[in-house]
Amino acid sequence: MRLSHTPLRLSVVARLAALAGLPLLSGCFWLDGPQSTFDPNGPVARHQQDLFYLTCWVCLVIFVIVGSVLAYAMLKFRAKGEAKDFPDPVEHGHGNPLVEISLIGASVLALVVIAIPTFKEIWYSFDVPVEDKPNAYEVTATGYQWWFKFDYPNEAAQTVDMTGKAATAPFSTANELVIPAGRPVKINLRTVDVIHSFWIPKLAGKVDMMPNRANHLWVEADKPGYFWGQCAEFCGESHAVMRFRVIALGPREFNDWVSAQMLPARKAAAAEASPAAPRAQLASYRTFRRNEAGTSDAFDAAPLDSWREMQKAPAAEDAALIAKGRQLFSTKTCATCHTIRGDGYIGVVGPELTHVGSRSTIAAGLLQNNRDELHRWIHAPNEVKPGNTMWVKGYVANGIKLTPEDEDALVNYLESLK
Ligand code: CUA
Repeated sequence: MRLSHTPLRLSVVARLAALAGLPLLSGCFWLDGPQSTFDPNGPVARHQQDLFYLTCWVCLVIFVIVGSVLAYAMLKFRAKGEAKDFPDPVEHGHGNPLVEISLIGASVLALVVIAIPTFKEIWYSFDVPVEDKPNAYEVTATGYQWWFKFDYPNEAAQTVDMTGKAATAPFSTANELVIPAGRPVKINLRTVDVIHSFWIPKLAGKVDMMPNRANHLWVEADKPGYFWGQCAEFCGESHAVMRFRVIALGPREFNDWVSAQMLPARKAAAAEASPAAPRAQLASYRTFRRNEAGTSDAFDAAPLDSWREMQKAPAAEDAALIAKGRQLFSTKTCATCHTIRGDGYIGVVGPELTHVGSRSTIAAGLLQNNRDELHRWIHAPNEVKPGNTMWVKGYVANGIKLTPEDEDALVNYLESLK
């Protein structure tokens, strides 16, 4: 009877052990995940990883020494016999001064070994090294509940001033930070509301965005790539979905991107309209699940290629439907919060959308930028990002209704903004 229980008990123990091991496996052996700090792609992240490993090795050596001494003492001095055989307490010694002084010295040495490189790395990651400063590129990242704005303060984009005259001004984008690869990038960190924290695990991190405080960090991507970023400080109900992307490009591709960003909003040509392929779709009949993952496997497999694909103008588009969407953008109050340079919309509460059609993601890096996801986002933003401004204070809160045809027109307009 007893024997028959043994295999069962073993299997329960084995299962429990496997269950306990799962988080370890996912945390330590899935080393090249999109937000893994074990796969650094730039000098800052590499320095931070080196420091992490150094600390780990020092701690491992201490663990092995202390553990061995403990195990030795437990075995050598374990009670040999019953308790009644030892009625008198053990005689206390007064320690060994040499051992005690050595232990204090060894502890101080271990701390110094960790502290010196730690201070060095704090200094290194604080700002671009002096010799690289002339080559550094500068951007400003601003945290909002719950998205990131990226300003390019040293670029001059085409726009119009308050009187309607042509003018230039730095451009900004949202949730996708495009940087030159192989060049240090200084990122100024600001916030308009609460404390956020700026973190690109494979490049550098993390530094807080503090109200009334000018923080900054710097990053450098070794080569062109597509990197995941995340707010790393609890900042409200949608903190966990406050994400962003960093796209690092080679010099020529980066310059092309900057040139494209400087242009005002693209206008779809009437001749491009293709009546044979109607753009209006019935996406609104699709039901979306709350917080459903918003990217496809194909996108995740090659995100930089997907991003590059988004830069191209669509083969065919319905200019009439886009024109209707452009008008709805104003009449349905979208323009109160969003800027679209060249179309006369100058809202600053929400992300700037002049080139939203060329971004690979929307809704702070949460959803892939395609027809279905744009539709889902406009239709019920609260299902995707609880508590967001578009829902709580925007058109939804003000009872502004969008018919499925309105939504399709708006989606077509946003898609056309390459
Ligand atoms: Cu912003 Cu968490």
